Order: sequence, then C-alpha cells, then structure tokens
Amino acid sequence: MPDSPIGKEENKHGKARVRGIELAYEDVGAGPQVVLLHGYPFNRTMWREQVAQLSQNHRVMAPDLRGHGESEVAPGPATMEDMARDIAGLMDLRRIPRVTIVGLSMGGYVALEFCRLFPARVRALVLADTRAQGDTEEGKQNRAAQAEKALAEGMEGIAYAMLPKLLAPETVAKRPEIVRRVRDMMVQTKPEGAVAALQGMAQRRDQRPMLSGISAPTLIIVGSEDTLTPHEDSELMHREIGGSSLKIIEGAAHVSNIERSEEFNDALLNFLHDNGA
Ligand code: MLT
Repeated sequence: MPDSPIGKEENKHGKARVRGIELAYEDVGAGPQVVLLHGYPFNRTMWREQVAQLSQNHRVMAPDLRGHGESEVAPGPATMEDMARDIAGLMDLRRIPRVTIVGLSMGGYVALEFCRLFPARVRALVLADTRAQGDTEEGKQNRAAQAEKALAEGMEGIAYAMLPKLLAPETVAKRPEIVRRVRDMMVQTKPEGAVAALQGMAQRRDQRPMLSGISAPTLIIVGSEDTLTPHEDSELMHREIGGSSLKIIEGAAHVSNIERSEEFNDALLNFLHDNGA
C-alpha cells in the first residue's frame, strides 16, 4: 500500500463498519497522516482546534472510539486492545498504512496499546495527559462505582463530578464556553458506552515494561495542573521512552488540548515538523 497523502477530493466524514461495529470518523486534509484519539467520556469533537490547524498540511483522521460519540456500543468491556484494533481496521479501510498517533488520556492508553500491537505502523507518537500504569485496586473500584452510577442516573452526575477534575480552576472560572463544551460531550455519551470504556480501562495492562522498546519519535504533553494524570506520570514515560520530549503546558489541567489549544498545537506542529511527520 503506498504511504502517500490522498487528495482533497477524497476528504470524508463518515461511518465505516469495522470489526463488526459502526465507527464514525472524520478524515480531512492532505499530507502526512495523523490519527487523533480522544479521551473518556468524550468524542472526536474534542479535537476541533487540532483538526482545523493540522489539516492545513496533514491528513487528519479523528474517530469516535467504540461506545463514544456517533460510534456504536458493542456488548461487554471495550478494551484498549479492541479500540487499538478498531483503529488499525479503520486505517486499513481508509488506506492509511502508517501514522503519527496522538492520544489524550484514554486515547493515550489506546495509543500505547496500538504501539504494542502494531509498532511498524507508528511513524511518531504523541501521548497527552495520560499514563502507562494500569489501574490500582482502588481505581478499579472507583470505575465500578462510576459505571453503576452512569447506568442508574445517566451521565449528568458523572459530568458534574468530573468537570472540576478535568479543568483548571481558572478555566472553570473564566472560560464558560469550555466548561459547557466539555460537559456537553460527557452528557452526550451513552451510559452503556461509558460503562464499556470504564470496564475496558479497568482491565488495561501496565504498559511500563514496553516503554523502553518504543523507537518512534515521541512527544509527551501534560497540563501543569492535571491531577487525573499528573506530570509525574508523564515524567516516568519521558524517562523510559528513549529520545522522547516532554512539554508541560502551564495553566492547563487534564484536557490541555482544549484549555490551551494554541500552546498544544504549537507543541504538536513543532514536533511533527522536527520529525518530518
Ligand atoms: C480520560 O480523560 O480519558 C480519563 O480520565 C482516563 C481515565 O479515567 O483513566
């Protein structure tokens, strides 16, 4: 398969049947190929600013991961391996052999799993506000409680509880449009999709042992005020992944790509440029 950009005429927002479920995606622009993997419980619209900027000289694919956005929910846990294999299947369908893979938080868990399963398909890697460790026992219990709450009460309560952890206090105080946007994404997630992702994340493997084997150029980004995946988690990945760079975005918490989209985009574009990706 040729590793070449496609022309603008092939740009597409669409749905595709991959591994038995329907996945929604955006596939826009032309140039070196980048895939953006969103966090939990969000959807591909979280990448709006990145798609707008990157697609000026890249081909950008942003899928809704299974159970999120407009993609179908499959029965049982949505494991990180399922999601990584979904992405590989979607790349096959869209004729994308190799990519720069960018994942934020749960998207980062999927990106690491993708690296483990398909290292030859990773041209470069960006891990944002994420971690390599698996869940602690306490973390697993919290996910089980959150799953029960999502099924019993819907996503409103989850969104309410998560917002102050996702956003920096300054964002909450001064950027109501961001608070609304992040809340709306969470509330739009189907409770069954959220539950499947919570179960999948609880089961995910500890990826620390494979970090030193990652040979793709890697950029690690974290908000200085991220408390869900604090900078220590990013520093660990930075130490283990040879030649990686670490960018700390001041004033952002967990959704650094939305809270500080300009700084995030600058870091991403400089990295892509420096690595010919
Ligand atoms: C995310 O933003 O994807 C989640 O906070 C990840 C997690 O719950 O571990």
